Amino acid sequence: MSATTAPATGDKDREETKTDPVSRWADERLGIYKGTKSLIRKVFPDHWSFLLGEIALFSFILILLSGVFLTLWFKPSMTEVEYHGSYYPLNGVSMSEAFASTLHISFDVRAGLLMRQVHHWAALIFIMAIMVHSLRIFFTGAFRKPREINWLIGFTLLVLGLLEGFAGYSLPDDLLSGTGLRIASGVVLAIPIVGTYLSYFLFGGDFPGTDFIPRLFTIHVLLVPALIVGLVTAHLILVFVQKHTQWAGPGKTNENVVGLPLMPVYMAKAGGFMFVIFGVVFLLAGLVQINPIWAYGPYVPDQISAGSQPDWYIGFLEGSLRMMPNWEWNLWGHTISFNVLIPSLIVPGILFTGYALWPFFEQWVTGDKREHHILDRPRNRPTRTAVGVAGMTFYGVLWLGGGNDLIATHFHLSVEALTWTFRVLVFLGPVIAFWCTKRIALGLQRRDKDKILHGRETGIIKVSLEGEFSEVHEPLSAGERFRLTAHEVQKPLELGPATDENGVPRPGGRGLKLRAKASKAMFSDNVETTVEEYKEIEAGHGHH
Ligand code: HEM
Repeated sequence: MSATTAPATGDKDREETKTDPVSRWADERLGIYKGTKSLIRKVFPDHWSFLLGEIALFSFILILLSGVFLTLWFKPSMTEVEYHGSYYPLNGVSMSEAFASTLHISFDVRAGLLMRQVHHWAALIFIMAIMVHSLRIFFTGAFRKPREINWLIGFTLLVLGLLEGFAGYSLPDDLLSGTGLRIASGVVLAIPIVGTYLSYFLFGGDFPGTDFIPRLFTIHVLLVPALIVGLVTAHLILVFVQKHTQWAGPGKTNENVVGLPLMPVYMAKAGGFMFVIFGVVFLLAGLVQINPIWAYGPYVPDQISAGSQPDWYIGFLEGSLRMMPNWEWNLWGHTISFNVLIPSLIVPGILFTGYALWPFFEQWVTGDKREHHILDRPRNRPTRTAVGVAGMTFYGVLWLGGGNDLIATHFHLSVEALTWTFRVLVFLGPVIAFWCTKRIALGLQRRDKDKILHGRETGIIKVSLEGEFSEVHEPLSAGERFRLTAHEVQKPLELGPATDENGVPRPGGRGLKLRAKASKAMFSDNVETTVEEYKEIEAGHGHH
Protein backbone atom coordinates (compact mmCIF):
# COMPACT_ATOMS: atom_id res chain seq x y z
CA MET A 1 0.00 0.00 0.00
CA SER A 2 1.41 3.36 -0.87
CA ALA A 3 0.79 6.52 1.06
CA THR A 4 0.73 10.10 -0.21
CA THR A 5 1.73 12.94 1.96
CA ALA A 6 0.46 16.44 1.54
CA PRO A 7 1.79 19.45 3.38
CA ALA A 8 -0.55 20.28 6.27
CA THR A 9 -0.94 23.82 5.03
CA GLY A 10 0.06 25.69 1.89
CA ASP A 11 3.75 26.29 2.55
CA LYS A 12 4.36 27.58 -0.96
CA ASP A 13 1.66 30.19 -0.66
CA ARG A 14 2.96 31.08 2.75
CA GLU A 15 6.33 31.87 1.26
CA GLU A 16 4.71 34.74 -0.60
CA THR A 17 3.44 36.34 2.60
CA LYS A 18 6.73 36.26 4.43
CA THR A 19 7.16 40.02 4.18
CA ASP A 20 3.99 40.64 6.16
CA PRO A 21 4.35 39.21 9.69
CA VAL A 22 0.68 39.66 10.63
CA SER A 23 -0.57 37.78 7.54
CA ARG A 24 2.06 35.11 8.07
CA TRP A 25 1.10 34.69 11.74
CA ALA A 26 -2.60 34.34 10.85
CA ASP A 27 -1.86 32.10 7.88
CA GLU A 28 0.32 29.70 9.89
CA ARG A 29 -2.56 29.15 12.30
CA LEU A 30 -5.62 29.40 10.08
CA GLY A 31 -4.36 28.70 6.57
CA ILE A 32 -6.36 31.66 5.30
CA TYR A 33 -3.99 32.87 2.60
CA LYS A 34 -5.13 30.58 -0.18
CA GLY A 35 -8.82 31.12 0.51
CA THR A 36 -8.68 34.86 0.80
CA LYS A 37 -6.13 35.58 -1.95
CA SER A 38 -8.72 35.98 -4.66
CA LEU A 39 -11.21 37.64 -2.32
CA ILE A 40 -8.92 40.43 -1.26
CA ARG A 41 -8.08 41.22 -4.89
CA LYS A 42 -11.78 41.48 -5.76
CA VAL A 43 -12.51 44.64 -7.70
CA PHE A 44 -15.21 47.16 -6.85
CA PRO A 45 -16.26 49.93 -9.20
CA ASP A 46 -16.31 53.43 -7.79
CA HIS A 47 -19.29 55.79 -7.90
CA TRP A 48 -20.96 57.94 -5.26
CA SER A 49 -24.33 56.19 -5.73
CA PHE A 50 -22.74 52.88 -4.65
CA LEU A 51 -22.23 54.43 -1.22
CA LEU A 52 -25.97 54.43 -0.48
CA GLY A 53 -25.99 50.70 0.34
CA GLU A 54 -22.98 51.31 2.56
CA ILE A 55 -24.80 54.06 4.47
CA ALA A 56 -27.60 51.53 5.12
CA LEU A 57 -25.06 48.95 6.27
CA PHE A 58 -23.11 51.23 8.58
CA SER A 59 -26.15 52.84 10.15
CA PHE A 60 -27.50 49.33 10.77
CA ILE A 61 -24.28 48.42 12.60
CA LEU A 62 -24.79 51.47 14.79
CA ILE A 63 -28.40 50.45 15.43
CA LEU A 64 -27.19 47.04 16.64
CA LEU A 65 -24.49 48.50 18.91
CA SER A 66 -26.68 51.19 20.48
CA GLY A 67 -29.60 48.71 20.70
CA VAL A 68 -27.51 46.30 22.80
CA PHE A 69 -26.73 49.19 25.16
CA LEU A 70 -30.44 50.05 25.52
CA THR A 71 -31.52 46.44 26.23
CA LEU A 72 -29.36 46.48 29.36
CA TRP A 73 -31.77 48.93 30.99
CA PHE A 74 -35.06 48.80 29.11
CA LYS A 75 -37.82 46.81 30.86
CA PRO A 76 -40.40 45.44 28.42
CA SER A 77 -43.19 45.30 30.96
CA MET A 78 -46.66 46.83 31.23
CA THR A 79 -46.74 46.48 35.02
CA GLU A 80 -47.97 49.75 36.56
CA VAL A 81 -45.38 51.57 38.66
CA GLU A 82 -45.19 55.02 40.23
CA TYR A 83 -42.35 57.14 38.85
CA HIS A 84 -39.78 58.57 41.25
CA GLY A 85 -36.79 59.43 39.10
CA SER A 86 -34.81 62.48 38.14
CA TYR A 87 -37.43 63.92 35.78
CA TYR A 88 -39.33 65.89 38.36
CA PRO A 89 -42.47 66.91 36.35
CA LEU A 90 -43.55 63.23 36.16
CA ASN A 91 -42.80 62.51 39.81
CA GLY A 92 -45.54 60.37 41.37
CA VAL A 93 -47.28 59.71 38.02
CA SER A 94 -48.31 56.09 37.47
CA MET A 95 -47.01 54.52 34.26
CA SER A 96 -45.86 51.22 32.78
CA GLU A 97 -42.41 49.88 33.65
CA ALA A 98 -41.55 50.19 29.96
CA PHE A 99 -42.12 53.95 30.05
CA ALA A 100 -40.45 54.37 33.46
CA SER A 101 -37.36 52.46 32.30
CA THR A 102 -37.11 54.64 29.18
CA LEU A 103 -37.22 57.72 31.43
CA HIS A 104 -34.53 56.07 33.56
CA ILE A 105 -32.32 55.52 30.50
CA SER A 106 -32.88 59.13 29.42
CA PHE A 107 -32.20 60.86 32.75
CA ASP A 108 -30.34 58.50 35.08
CA VAL A 109 -28.15 56.20 33.00
CA ARG A 110 -24.81 57.73 32.00
CA ALA A 111 -24.85 58.44 28.24
CA GLY A 112 -28.30 56.83 28.16
CA LEU A 113 -30.01 59.72 26.40
CA LEU A 114 -27.16 59.96 23.89
CA MET A 115 -27.50 56.24 23.14
CA ARG A 116 -31.30 56.50 22.77
CA GLN A 117 -30.82 59.35 20.36
CA VAL A 118 -28.05 57.52 18.46
CA HIS A 119 -30.36 54.51 18.12
CA HIS A 120 -33.26 56.64 16.87
CA TRP A 121 -31.25 58.81 14.47
CA ALA A 122 -29.44 55.76 13.09
CA ALA A 123 -32.82 54.08 12.48
CA LEU A 124 -34.14 57.14 10.60
CA ILE A 125 -31.01 57.31 8.47
CA PHE A 126 -31.02 53.53 7.92
CA ILE A 127 -34.50 53.53 6.41
CA MET A 128 -33.81 56.65 4.37
CA ALA A 129 -30.62 55.03 3.04
CA ILE A 130 -32.39 51.75 2.17
CA MET A 131 -35.10 53.62 0.30
CA VAL A 132 -32.74 55.84 -1.68
CA HIS A 133 -30.45 52.85 -2.34
CA SER A 134 -33.38 50.86 -3.71
CA LEU A 135 -34.36 53.84 -5.90
CA ARG A 136 -30.84 53.97 -7.36
CA ILE A 137 -31.14 50.25 -8.14
CA PHE A 138 -34.51 50.88 -9.76
CA PHE A 139 -33.61 53.92 -11.85
CA THR A 140 -30.36 52.41 -13.15
CA GLY A 141 -31.82 48.98 -13.94
CA ALA A 142 -29.37 47.25 -11.55
CA PHE A 143 -32.18 44.80 -10.76
CA ARG A 144 -31.95 43.11 -14.16
CA LYS A 145 -30.70 39.56 -14.67
CA PRO A 146 -28.85 38.12 -12.70
CA ARG A 147 -29.76 40.38 -9.76
CA GLU A 148 -33.52 39.75 -9.47
CA ILE A 149 -33.13 37.59 -6.35
CA ASN A 150 -30.99 40.23 -4.71
CA TRP A 151 -33.65 42.80 -5.57
CA LEU A 152 -36.22 40.65 -3.75
CA ILE A 153 -33.90 40.13 -0.77
CA GLY A 154 -33.37 43.90 -0.66
CA PHE A 155 -37.09 44.52 -0.91
CA THR A 156 -37.71 42.16 2.03
CA LEU A 157 -35.10 44.12 3.95
CA LEU A 158 -36.99 47.32 3.22
CA VAL A 159 -40.25 45.87 4.58
CA LEU A 160 -38.43 44.42 7.62
CA GLY A 161 -36.74 47.79 8.19
CA LEU A 162 -40.13 49.55 8.27
CA LEU A 163 -41.53 46.92 10.65
CA GLU A 164 -38.48 47.07 12.90
CA GLY A 165 -38.61 50.86 13.09
CA PHE A 166 -42.30 50.88 13.93
CA ALA A 167 -41.82 48.17 16.57
CA GLY A 168 -38.92 50.15 18.05
CA TYR A 169 -40.68 53.43 18.55
CA SER A 170 -43.75 51.63 19.89
CA LEU A 171 -41.80 50.07 22.77
CA PRO A 172 -41.43 52.95 25.27
CA ASP A 173 -45.24 52.99 25.79
CA ASP A 174 -45.40 56.78 25.64
CA LEU A 175 -48.43 58.68 24.41
CA LEU A 176 -47.17 58.82 20.82
CA SER A 177 -46.20 55.16 20.55
CA GLY A 178 -49.47 54.05 22.13
CA THR A 179 -51.36 56.15 19.58
CA GLY A 180 -49.43 54.44 16.77
CA LEU A 181 -50.24 51.03 18.21
CA ARG A 182 -53.91 52.00 18.50
CA ILE A 183 -53.88 52.71 14.75
CA ALA A 184 -52.10 49.38 14.12
CA SER A 185 -54.76 47.57 16.17
CA GLY A 186 -57.46 49.33 14.11
CA VAL A 187 -55.77 48.16 10.91
CA VAL A 188 -55.71 44.56 12.13
CA LEU A 189 -59.36 44.83 13.17
CA ALA A 190 -60.26 46.05 9.66
CA ILE A 191 -59.13 42.79 8.04
CA PRO A 192 -62.38 41.08 7.02
CA ILE A 193 -63.43 37.88 8.82
CA VAL A 194 -60.19 37.19 10.76
CA GLY A 195 -59.40 40.73 11.95
CA THR A 196 -61.02 40.49 15.40
CA TYR A 197 -59.44 37.11 16.14
CA LEU A 198 -56.06 38.30 14.92
CA SER A 199 -56.21 41.40 17.11
CA TYR A 200 -57.08 39.30 20.20
CA PHE A 201 -54.25 36.94 19.31
CA LEU A 202 -51.68 39.75 18.90
CA PHE A 203 -52.64 41.80 21.94
CA GLY A 204 -53.52 38.82 24.14
CA GLY A 205 -57.09 40.15 24.54
CA ASP A 206 -58.50 43.64 24.23
CA PHE A 207 -56.24 46.54 23.20
CA PRO A 208 -53.89 47.53 24.79
CA GLY A 209 -53.70 44.68 27.33
CA THR A 210 -50.46 43.83 29.10
CA ASP A 211 -48.96 41.25 26.75
CA PHE A 212 -48.14 43.26 23.68
CA ILE A 213 -45.05 45.26 24.77
CA PRO A 214 -43.14 42.13 25.96
CA ARG A 215 -44.08 40.38 22.70
CA LEU A 216 -43.08 43.36 20.60
CA PHE A 217 -39.78 43.50 22.47
CA THR A 218 -38.90 39.95 21.44
CA ILE A 219 -39.84 40.76 17.85
CA HIS A 220 -37.81 43.99 17.93
CA VAL A 221 -34.61 42.77 19.57
CA LEU A 222 -34.46 39.18 18.35
CA LEU A 223 -36.68 38.06 15.51
CA VAL A 224 -36.48 40.96 13.05
CA PRO A 225 -32.80 41.83 13.70
CA ALA A 226 -31.84 38.17 13.19
CA LEU A 227 -33.75 38.13 9.91
CA ILE A 228 -32.16 41.41 8.83
CA VAL A 229 -28.63 40.23 9.71
CA GLY A 230 -29.19 36.96 7.82
CA LEU A 231 -30.63 38.68 4.78
CA VAL A 232 -27.99 41.45 4.72
CA THR A 233 -25.33 38.71 4.75
CA ALA A 234 -27.00 36.93 1.85
CA HIS A 235 -27.44 40.29 0.07
CA LEU A 236 -23.74 41.15 0.33
CA ILE A 237 -22.60 37.64 -0.60
CA LEU A 238 -24.68 37.96 -3.76
CA VAL A 239 -23.18 41.39 -4.56
CA PHE A 240 -19.78 39.71 -4.19
CA VAL A 241 -20.59 36.63 -6.24
CA GLN A 242 -22.48 38.39 -9.02
CA LYS A 243 -20.00 41.29 -9.03
CA HIS A 244 -21.03 44.90 -8.80
CA THR A 245 -22.62 46.65 -11.77
CA GLN A 246 -20.76 49.59 -13.29
CA TRP A 247 -21.48 52.68 -15.36
CA ALA A 248 -20.66 52.59 -19.03
CA GLY A 249 -17.29 54.07 -19.92
CA PRO A 250 -14.15 53.37 -21.91
CA GLY A 251 -12.81 49.89 -21.14
CA LYS A 252 -15.93 48.85 -19.23
CA THR A 253 -17.91 45.98 -20.69
CA ASN A 254 -20.60 43.54 -19.66
CA GLU A 255 -17.84 40.97 -19.07
CA ASN A 256 -15.40 42.89 -16.85
CA VAL A 257 -15.41 45.06 -13.72
CA VAL A 258 -13.20 48.14 -13.63
CA GLY A 259 -12.45 49.52 -10.19
CA LEU A 260 -10.39 49.32 -7.06
CA PRO A 261 -9.28 46.12 -5.28
CA LEU A 262 -10.99 45.21 -2.00
CA MET A 263 -7.68 45.27 -0.11
CA PRO A 264 -6.36 47.74 0.66
CA VAL A 265 -8.09 50.55 -1.29
CA TYR A 266 -11.76 49.69 -1.02
CA MET A 267 -11.50 48.54 2.61
CA ALA A 268 -9.68 51.72 3.59
CA LYS A 269 -12.27 53.86 1.85
CA ALA A 270 -15.26 51.91 3.19
CA GLY A 271 -13.76 51.75 6.70
CA GLY A 272 -13.19 55.50 6.68
CA PHE A 273 -16.69 56.07 5.38
CA MET A 274 -18.10 53.94 8.21
CA PHE A 275 -16.55 56.26 10.77
CA VAL A 276 -17.90 59.28 8.89
CA ILE A 277 -21.41 57.81 9.19
CA PHE A 278 -20.84 57.04 12.88
CA GLY A 279 -19.61 60.59 13.38
CA VAL A 280 -22.59 62.17 11.63
CA VAL A 281 -25.06 60.08 13.64
CA PHE A 282 -23.34 60.90 16.94
CA LEU A 283 -23.30 64.60 16.04
CA LEU A 284 -27.02 64.53 15.25
CA ALA A 285 -27.73 62.53 18.40
CA GLY A 286 -25.72 64.92 20.52
CA LEU A 287 -27.18 68.08 19.06
CA VAL A 288 -30.69 67.40 17.76
CA GLN A 289 -33.40 66.13 20.05
CA ILE A 290 -35.44 63.18 18.89
CA ASN A 291 -38.44 61.43 20.45
CA PRO A 292 -38.60 63.30 23.80
CA ILE A 293 -41.00 60.79 25.39
CA TRP A 294 -41.05 62.72 28.71
CA ALA A 295 -42.77 65.59 26.88
CA TYR A 296 -45.47 63.23 25.51
CA GLY A 297 -46.11 61.45 28.82
CA PRO A 298 -47.18 57.85 29.41
CA TYR A 299 -49.77 56.21 27.17
CA VAL A 300 -53.35 56.57 28.29
CA PRO A 301 -55.80 55.09 25.75
CA ASP A 302 -58.30 57.97 25.91
CA GLN A 303 -55.70 60.72 25.39
CA ILE A 304 -53.86 62.07 22.38
CA SER A 305 -51.80 65.19 21.91
CA ALA A 306 -52.38 67.61 19.06
CA GLY A 307 -49.89 67.42 16.20
CA SER A 308 -48.97 63.76 16.86
CA GLN A 309 -46.70 62.56 14.08
CA PRO A 310 -45.15 59.15 13.45
CA ASP A 311 -41.51 58.65 12.41
CA TRP A 312 -41.06 59.88 8.84
CA TYR A 313 -41.22 56.46 7.12
CA ILE A 314 -44.68 55.69 8.56
CA GLY A 315 -46.00 59.09 7.40
CA PHE A 316 -47.29 57.76 4.07
CA LEU A 317 -49.58 55.27 5.84
CA GLU A 318 -50.84 57.98 8.18
CA GLY A 319 -51.56 60.21 5.15
CA SER A 320 -53.31 57.44 3.30
CA LEU A 321 -55.61 56.94 6.32
CA ARG A 322 -56.20 60.65 6.82
CA MET A 323 -57.28 61.34 3.25
CA MET A 324 -59.60 58.34 2.86
CA PRO A 325 -63.33 59.11 2.89
CA ASN A 326 -65.31 57.43 5.63
CA TRP A 327 -66.62 54.43 3.65
CA GLU A 328 -68.07 51.57 5.59
CA TRP A 329 -70.42 48.76 4.56
CA ASN A 330 -72.58 46.68 6.77
CA LEU A 331 -73.24 43.31 5.16
CA TRP A 332 -75.35 40.73 7.00
CA GLY A 333 -74.34 42.10 10.35
CA HIS A 334 -70.61 42.31 9.43
CA THR A 335 -68.92 45.69 9.13
CA ILE A 336 -66.42 46.08 6.32
CA SER A 337 -64.31 49.13 7.12
CA PHE A 338 -63.12 50.28 3.69
CA ASN A 339 -62.10 53.53 5.40
CA VAL A 340 -59.25 51.60 7.06
CA LEU A 341 -58.84 48.54 4.84
CA ILE A 342 -58.18 50.45 1.60
CA PRO A 343 -55.72 53.09 2.87
CA SER A 344 -53.76 50.93 5.28
CA LEU A 345 -53.62 47.56 3.55
CA ILE A 346 -54.78 47.71 -0.08
CA VAL A 347 -52.99 50.93 -1.15
CA PRO A 348 -49.60 50.07 0.41
CA GLY A 349 -50.09 46.47 -0.72
CA ILE A 350 -50.42 47.54 -4.36
CA LEU A 351 -47.55 50.05 -4.08
CA PHE A 352 -45.15 47.56 -2.51
CA THR A 353 -46.14 44.55 -4.62
CA GLY A 354 -45.74 46.64 -7.78
CA TYR A 355 -42.27 47.74 -6.63
CA ALA A 356 -41.18 44.20 -5.76
CA LEU A 357 -42.40 42.73 -9.04
CA TRP A 358 -41.22 45.48 -11.43
CA PRO A 359 -38.06 43.59 -12.55
CA PHE A 360 -40.20 40.62 -13.57
CA PHE A 361 -42.72 42.82 -15.34
CA GLU A 362 -39.96 44.57 -17.28
CA GLN A 363 -38.40 41.23 -18.20
CA TRP A 364 -41.75 39.97 -19.45
CA VAL A 365 -42.25 43.09 -21.62
CA THR A 366 -38.76 43.07 -23.13
CA GLY A 367 -38.43 39.29 -23.34
CA ASP A 368 -34.76 39.99 -22.54
CA LYS A 369 -33.02 36.94 -21.05
CA ARG A 370 -29.46 38.32 -21.19
CA GLU A 371 -27.32 39.32 -18.22
CA HIS A 372 -26.81 43.05 -17.65
CA HIS A 373 -23.83 44.41 -15.73
CA ILE A 374 -23.71 47.90 -17.26
CA LEU A 375 -26.11 50.37 -15.65
CA ASP A 376 -28.75 52.32 -17.56
CA ARG A 377 -28.74 56.09 -17.48
CA PRO A 378 -32.31 56.91 -16.33
CA ARG A 379 -32.93 59.09 -19.42
CA ASN A 380 -32.33 56.12 -21.71
CA ARG A 381 -35.24 54.23 -20.11
CA PRO A 382 -37.82 57.05 -20.10
CA THR A 383 -40.86 54.94 -19.23
CA ARG A 384 -39.21 53.13 -16.33
CA THR A 385 -37.92 56.46 -15.04
CA ALA A 386 -41.34 58.05 -15.43
CA VAL A 387 -43.06 55.15 -13.63
CA GLY A 388 -40.53 55.51 -10.79
CA VAL A 389 -41.10 59.25 -10.46
CA ALA A 390 -44.90 58.72 -10.62
CA GLY A 391 -44.59 56.17 -7.77
CA MET A 392 -42.46 58.59 -5.75
CA THR A 393 -45.03 61.35 -6.33
CA PHE A 394 -47.85 59.08 -5.16
CA TYR A 395 -45.83 58.21 -2.05
CA GLY A 396 -44.92 61.88 -1.54
CA VAL A 397 -48.56 63.06 -1.66
CA LEU A 398 -49.57 60.37 0.84
CA TRP A 399 -46.66 61.44 3.04
CA LEU A 400 -47.66 65.11 2.92
CA GLY A 401 -51.25 64.11 3.68
CA GLY A 402 -49.99 62.57 6.92
CA GLY A 403 -49.02 66.05 8.06
CA ASN A 404 -52.28 67.78 7.03
CA ASP A 405 -52.85 69.09 10.59
CA LEU A 406 -49.35 70.55 10.88
CA ILE A 407 -49.46 72.10 7.39
CA ALA A 408 -52.86 73.60 8.27
CA THR A 409 -51.68 75.13 11.55
CA HIS A 410 -48.31 76.34 10.23
CA PHE A 411 -49.66 77.93 7.04
CA HIS A 412 -53.09 78.95 8.40
CA LEU A 413 -54.99 76.78 5.94
CA SER A 414 -58.19 74.80 6.35
CA VAL A 415 -57.51 71.16 7.16
CA GLU A 416 -60.59 70.07 5.12
CA ALA A 417 -59.41 72.01 2.05
CA LEU A 418 -55.97 70.42 2.42
CA THR A 419 -57.43 66.93 2.71
CA TRP A 420 -59.45 67.50 -0.47
CA THR A 421 -56.41 68.88 -2.25
CA PHE A 422 -54.44 65.76 -1.34
CA ARG A 423 -57.32 63.53 -2.44
CA VAL A 424 -57.18 65.09 -5.90
CA LEU A 425 -53.37 65.25 -6.03
CA VAL A 426 -52.93 61.60 -5.12
CA PHE A 427 -54.55 60.71 -8.47
CA LEU A 428 -53.46 63.68 -10.57
CA GLY A 429 -49.91 64.11 -9.25
CA PRO A 430 -48.53 60.76 -10.49
CA VAL A 431 -50.03 61.31 -13.98
CA ILE A 432 -48.47 64.77 -14.29
CA ALA A 433 -45.18 63.47 -12.88
CA PHE A 434 -45.16 60.59 -15.35
CA TRP A 435 -45.78 62.84 -18.34
CA CYS A 436 -43.25 65.51 -17.33
CA THR A 437 -40.53 62.96 -16.50
CA LYS A 438 -40.95 61.15 -19.77
CA ARG A 439 -40.75 64.40 -21.75
CA ILE A 440 -37.66 65.50 -19.79
CA ALA A 441 -35.96 62.10 -20.32
CA LEU A 442 -36.68 62.19 -24.06
CA GLY A 443 -35.47 65.79 -24.20
CA LEU A 444 -32.22 64.76 -22.51
CA GLN A 445 -31.82 61.90 -24.99
CA ARG A 446 -32.15 64.40 -27.84
CA ARG A 447 -29.62 66.70 -26.19
CA ASP A 448 -27.17 63.78 -25.89
CA LYS A 449 -27.68 62.97 -29.55
CA ASP A 450 -27.12 66.58 -30.49
CA LYS A 451 -23.89 66.63 -28.48
CA ILE A 452 -22.67 63.45 -30.15
CA LEU A 453 -23.42 64.76 -33.62
CA HIS A 454 -22.41 68.39 -33.24
CA GLY A 455 -20.12 68.48 -30.22
CA ARG A 456 -20.30 70.60 -27.10
CA GLU A 457 -21.36 74.25 -27.24
CA THR A 458 -18.37 76.41 -26.26
CA GLY A 459 -20.14 79.75 -25.88
CA ILE A 460 -17.66 81.27 -28.38
CA ILE A 461 -19.46 83.20 -31.14
CA LYS A 462 -17.78 83.57 -34.51
CA VAL A 463 -18.63 86.18 -37.10
CA SER A 464 -17.97 85.14 -40.69
CA LEU A 465 -16.77 87.51 -43.41
CA GLU A 466 -20.36 87.65 -44.65
CA GLY A 467 -21.44 88.85 -41.19
CA GLU A 468 -23.05 85.58 -40.15
CA PHE A 469 -22.92 84.73 -36.42
CA SER A 470 -22.38 81.12 -35.38
CA GLU A 471 -21.37 79.31 -32.20
CA VAL A 472 -18.20 77.25 -32.11
CA HIS A 473 -18.80 73.62 -31.18
CA GLU A 474 -16.06 71.54 -29.63
CA PRO A 475 -15.86 67.81 -30.40
CA LEU A 476 -16.47 65.45 -27.51
CA SER A 477 -13.64 63.27 -26.30
CA ALA A 478 -13.76 59.65 -27.49
CA GLY A 479 -14.51 58.55 -23.92
CA GLU A 480 -17.44 60.93 -23.57
CA ARG A 481 -18.81 59.87 -26.97
CA PHE A 482 -18.55 56.25 -25.88
CA ARG A 483 -20.34 56.99 -22.61
CA LEU A 484 -23.21 58.71 -24.38
CA THR A 485 -23.64 56.08 -27.07
CA ALA A 486 -23.04 52.91 -25.04
CA HIS A 487 -26.64 51.86 -24.66
CA GLU A 488 -29.13 49.88 -26.66
CA VAL A 489 -32.19 51.56 -28.08
CA GLN A 490 -34.88 49.05 -27.23
CA LYS A 491 -37.36 48.51 -30.08
CA PRO A 492 -41.05 47.93 -29.34
CA LEU A 493 -42.22 44.37 -29.91
CA GLU A 494 -43.65 43.87 -33.44
CA LEU A 495 -46.58 41.47 -33.55
CA GLY A 496 -46.57 40.71 -37.27
CA PRO A 497 -49.66 39.44 -39.13
CA ALA A 498 -52.45 37.71 -37.18
CA THR A 499 -52.17 34.62 -39.42
CA ASP A 500 -49.25 33.27 -41.46
CA GLU A 501 -49.30 32.48 -45.20
CA ASN A 502 -50.97 29.12 -44.47
CA GLY A 503 -53.73 30.78 -42.46
CA VAL A 504 -52.36 29.47 -39.14
CA PRO A 505 -53.12 31.99 -36.37
CA ARG A 506 -50.18 33.63 -34.63
CA PRO A 507 -49.29 31.79 -31.39
CA GLY A 508 -49.26 33.75 -28.14
CA GLY A 509 -52.88 34.91 -28.06
CA ARG A 510 -54.01 37.72 -25.76
CA GLY A 511 -50.87 37.54 -23.61
CA LEU A 512 -48.68 38.44 -26.60
CA LYS A 513 -51.01 41.29 -27.61
CA LEU A 514 -50.82 42.67 -24.09
CA ARG A 515 -47.04 42.38 -24.16
CA ALA A 516 -46.87 44.22 -27.49
CA LYS A 517 -49.03 47.02 -26.09
CA ALA A 518 -46.87 47.35 -22.98
CA SER A 519 -43.74 47.26 -25.13
CA LYS A 520 -45.10 50.01 -27.40
CA ALA A 521 -45.95 52.16 -24.38
CA MET A 522 -42.45 51.66 -23.02
CA PHE A 523 -40.22 51.96 -26.03
CA SER A 524 -42.02 53.54 -28.99
CA ASP A 525 -40.73 57.10 -28.57
CA ASN A 526 -37.07 56.43 -27.72
CA VAL A 527 -34.70 58.68 -29.64
CA GLU A 528 -32.87 56.68 -32.28
CA THR A 529 -29.74 57.44 -34.20
CA THR A 530 -30.15 56.89 -37.93
CA VAL A 531 -27.68 54.96 -40.08
CA GLU A 532 -26.52 58.20 -41.73
CA GLU A 533 -25.92 59.78 -38.35
CA TYR A 534 -23.91 56.76 -37.21
CA LYS A 535 -21.80 57.03 -40.32
CA GLU A 536 -21.23 60.69 -39.57
CA ILE A 537 -20.12 59.91 -36.01
CA GLU A 538 -17.87 57.05 -37.16
CA ALA A 539 -16.28 59.25 -39.79
CA GLY A 540 -15.44 61.77 -37.06
CA HIS A 541 -17.52 64.58 -38.54
CA GLY A 542 -19.46 64.83 -35.32
CA HIS A 543 -18.78 68.53 -34.94
CA HIS A 544 -19.52 71.57 -36.98
C1 HEM B 1 -30.73 46.53 5.07
C2 HEM B 1 -30.85 47.06 3.88
C3 HEM B 1 -29.81 47.01 2.79
C4 HEM B 1 -28.43 47.00 2.90
C5 HEM B 1 -27.60 47.04 4.16
C6 HEM B 1 -27.92 46.94 1.54
C7 HEM B 1 -26.58 46.96 1.23
C8 HEM B 1 -26.06 46.92 -0.06
C9 HEM B 1 -24.70 47.17 -0.44
C10 HEM B 1 -23.58 47.58 0.54
C11 HEM B 1 -24.59 46.99 -1.78
C12 HEM B 1 -23.34 47.21 -2.66
C13 HEM B 1 -23.17 48.71 -2.88
C14 HEM B 1 -24.31 49.38 -3.63
O1 HEM B 1 -24.58 49.01 -4.79
O2 HEM B 1 -24.94 50.28 -3.05
C15 HEM B 1 -25.89 46.60 -2.28
C16 HEM B 1 -26.20 46.28 -3.59
C17 HEM B 1 -27.48 45.93 -4.05
N1 HEM B 1 -28.66 46.10 -3.37
FE1 HEM B 1 -28.81 46.50 -1.38
N2 HEM B 1 -28.98 46.89 0.65
C18 HEM B 1 -30.14 46.95 1.37
C19 HEM B 1 -31.42 47.00 0.86
C20 HEM B 1 -31.74 46.87 -0.50
C21 HEM B 1 -33.04 47.08 -1.09
C22 HEM B 1 -34.25 47.60 -0.33
C23 HEM B 1 -32.94 46.75 -2.43
C24 HEM B 1 -34.01 46.76 -3.51
C25 HEM B 1 -35.30 46.73 -3.30
C26 HEM B 1 -31.57 46.34 -2.69
C27 HEM B 1 -31.07 45.86 -3.89
C28 HEM B 1 -29.71 45.72 -4.19
C29 HEM B 1 -29.17 45.23 -5.45
C30 HEM B 1 -29.97 44.69 -6.64
C31 HEM B 1 -27.77 45.35 -5.36
C32 HEM B 1 -26.74 45.02 -6.45
C33 HEM B 1 -26.47 46.34 -7.14
C34 HEM B 1 -25.38 46.35 -8.15
O3 HEM B 1 -24.63 45.38 -8.31
O4 HEM B 1 -25.31 47.42 -8.78
N3 HEM B 1 -30.86 46.47 -1.51
N4 HEM B 1 -26.77 46.58 -1.21
